[in-house]
Amino acid sequence: MRGKEILASVVSSQDHVHSCYGGIVPELASRHHMENILAIIDQTLAQAQVQLDQLDGVAVTCGPGLVGSLLVGVSVAKALAMAKNLPLIGVNHLEGHLLAVLLEQEVAFPFLCLLVSGGHTSLYLAHDWGEYQRLGATRDDAAGEAFDKGAKMLGLGYPGGRVIDRLAQQGDALAVRFPRAHLKTGKYDFSFSGLKTALRQFLSTPERGGYRDEDIVASYQEAIVDMLVANVLRAADDLKTERIVISGGVSANSRLRQRMTEAGLQNDIHVFLPSLRLCTDNAAMIAFAGSWRLASGQRASLQLNASATLPL
Ligand code: KG4
Ligand code: ZN
Repeated sequence: MRGKEILASVVSSQDHVHSCYGGIVPELASRHHMENILAIIDQTLAQAQVQLDQLDGVAVTCGPGLVGSLLVGVSVAKALAMAKNLPLIGVNHLEGHLLAVLLEQEVAFPFLCLLVSGGHTSLYLAHDWGEYQRLGATRDDAAGEAFDKGAKMLGLGYPGGRVIDRLAQQGDALAVRFPRAHLKTGKYDFSFSGLKTALRQFLSTPERGGYRDEDIVASYQEAIVDMLVANVLRAADDLKTERIVISGGVSANSRLRQRMTEAGLQNDIHVFLPSLRLCTDNAAMIAFAGSWRLASGQRASLQLNASATLPL
């Protein structure tokens, strides 16, 4: 990255490896990371037309996530940093998502951030660089998991979010009335397990035969989006927020983007949405989060370790 320009961001998708299992198999994920990582680094440097010696530092995701996969990245980053005598920066994956949109748009602090991915669904108040206050989080499944598990129940493949998004565009979101969780405690918390159970029960009823998959997924997606939007708007109202950032893989969802854009216009709040390539996991967002930490003088030692549960 020069300034905020993305010179190259290569994503090596493993969807084809995991799709037949209906979810990520950790052992396969780390094995494929190991097989691909060096070629991906070469490809990225070639695309960017940059030599290793020209880098200012090496940023690497050190958590949270699947520890086997994280360890592959952390080990390679340490080796590069040591071989080329470069500063090493450990980046929290969630910070990468949270800041991704700042790569493309100017967003002033403070802002409210909904982080919705396959592993996380949380609401943060970002006070400044590196100062993030968690206002709420999911009590059970993440929103992306609700998409993936829903798609799996319907036999639609993995990852399910994108498939449901596409199919729902031809469906009627009012066809099936799925429940929305209203939690009595934890004002900004989320819960998707009841919705998932409702889908499973609905699919086992004879009634199911009368509905097209398109209508079922549109209704299911609407329930997820309703819960997300309601929580964000409640927090925005309580905190008198002027800016809302939506981030993480589920922020690629076209219905969520549409509903948040409309809500922003109605409530006079600026809603920031990353472009699709910065919503799902990507290297550019980690480089960006690493670059501000590098500029502020932060360095990780060669003792840097991966942590499956690293908090933000
Ligand atoms: O951020 P991400 O790439 O990886 C994690 O950090 O988890 O998010 C992946 C999640 C998956 O659950 C995937 O189904 C979901 O994001 N996703 C979507 C869409 N694209 C990806 N969910 C709904 N609609 C989409 N268009
Ligand atoms: Zn992610």
